[in-house]
Amino acid sequence: MARFLIITATSGTNYELGELFSTSAEDKGHDVEIIDLSELDLPLFTVARSKDPEQTPDVSELIQIMTESDAWIVLAPEYNGSYPPTLNNAIAWMSLDWQSFRNMCTGKPVGLGTHSGGGGTHVIMAMRQQFSFIGADVMGRSCVSGKNKDANPETIEAMIDGLAR
Ligand SMILES: Cc1cc2nc3c(=O)[nH]c(=O)nc-3n(C[C@H](O)[C@H](O)[C@H](O)COP(=O)(O)O)c2cc1C
Repeated sequence: MARFLIITATSGTNYELGELFSTSAEDKGHDVEIIDLSELDLPLFTVARSKDPEQTPDVSELIQIMTESDAWIVLAPEYNGSYPPTLNNAIAWMSLDWQSFRNMCTGKPVGLGTHSGGGGTHVIMAMRQQFSFIGADVMGRSCVSGKNKDANPETIEAMIDGLAR
């Protein structure tokens, strides 16, 4: 049994995709938690803010949940050929303590998915580059869905099985 953390960058169709992953993982006996980054509503990262304790958000609980999970499934819509600011912003805040951030990410199994307006291939590429850079073990298979393409249940199942290993 694995502890999955599903991280959604937005609260709409990508959150719904997260629920599909969650149901599939729970049906297989895994533990699942979903975090919606847009709900966290973190302030925009700036260097000035990061140096002012009164303006620095407490992301310690987020870091703890991410550290304790066995695998992450990161879901985000494509925004202008990349991923949304909620994801980039959360990564920036969590990476302030760069060494512990690296430790948290190194070798972490990560699966990627999207529900996007168009093809969604660009957001997968952007997230693959991001999560590979921070040392995660990004799975080759990803779940791409959109207005004209439902998420493939077989892909979701295969990703859960692959990440739980
Ligand atoms: C600022 C912005 C930029 C977007 N850029 C793209 C894009 O480059 N490619 C694409 O396929 N869809 C794009 N979309 C559409 C979203 O990917 C699509 O509506 C997605 O399903 C929204 O996810 P959500 O329902 O989880 O919020 C964009 C949407 C917004 C708001």
